[in-house]
Amino acid sequence: MTTLVTGGAGYIGSHTLLYIKEKNEEFVVLDSLQTGHREAVQGATFYQGELADADLLDKIFSENDISAVIHFAADSLVGESMKDPLKYYENNVIGSYHLIKKMVEHGVKKFVFSSTAATYGEPVSVPITEDSPTIPTNPYGETKLAIEKMLKWADEAYGVKSICLRYFNAAGADPEGKIGEDHQPESHLIPIVLQAALGQRAHVSMFGDDYPTEDGTCVRDYIHVLDLAQAHYLALQRLEKEEKSGIYNLGNGNGFSVKQVIETCKAVTGIDIKTVTAPRRTGDPAVLIASSNKARSELGWNPEYSSLDLMIKHAWNWHQHHPDGYGD
Ligand code: UFG
Repeated sequence: MTTLVTGGAGYIGSHTLLYIKEKNEEFVVLDSLQTGHREAVQGATFYQGELADADLLDKIFSENDISAVIHFAADSLVGESMKDPLKYYENNVIGSYHLIKKMVEHGVKKFVFSSTAATYGEPVSVPITEDSPTIPTNPYGETKLAIEKMLKWADEAYGVKSICLRYFNAAGADPEGKIGEDHQPESHLIPIVLQAALGQRAHVSMFGDDYPTEDGTCVRDYIHVLDLAQAHYLALQRLEKEEKSGIYNLGNGNGFSVKQVIETCKAVTGIDIKTVTAPRRTGDPAVLIASSNKARSELGWNPEYSSLDLMIKHAWNWHQHHPDGYGD
């Protein structure tokens, strides 16, 4: 029994591969390498290509005894999605449509989906539970929500069982430093601060200091990428045991402000990082904190690396040793 992992060369995908490999799961990887890195995937059958390539998907499903799919492949930049929403509809929604269609044709009925807290939009209350209203404030979140809905109907009509994992803010890296985070261009807070610590940026811009939070900067729930990986493994296990679809938040339930993250980066690196206050970034909610009780109780999820300090230490280890990321 083999799992097809799409987008396995990306940040969260590659850490999930590392994790499920240790659990002796068999898998093959499909990635277009538009944003992923070939070096991030070691020791796996690798197919390079697009989700819309029907012949390639037929080949993958025919050549391997695939029983489940973990679907990471997607565009995931909120800002870019505001400027080019059709790219997000094409790559995320239409790409997922092609994948799910081929799963149905090949009789594959287990699906773990990489979703996001961006499906909620501006929260009505925190911590956010899975039954909170979903009113995305950007096309990225909107396309992920559209895929969740496609999966709901694919369950009703074809019996495709899916677990949708809504991540909050992924952070950290493999503790042994084999793989890490490398986005081109980088837009996430922690890698940007660490690039400033390495002298690759003159300063860090804090987007807004007048939010209704304790120190005026946005508050986020950071979750270690390997804890996300654990949740994907548990989701697969659960689909094996019980044919039941579900949606789960993944976060630690602790909020850290942009200022607190920068201070923690300073403490971890021992480097004084210059910050400047910049205007708010469009579409940023003030506070995003998850309630992940459902994932804990139903999936048995138990995050191992919940300290922000540790997440930043692991990220710093990666960035120090790979200042140019994968260098590709
Ligand atoms: N920030 C800065 N300066 C920077 C970069 C970020 O102040 O240079 C701030 C942002 O404004 C935000 C916080 O740091 O308040 C975190 O920003 P990130 O870009 O690291 O993460 P986001 O919260 O915007 O996005 C994350 C995921 C998205 C997902 C979203 C859900 O990366 O994929 O959470 O809300 F959609």
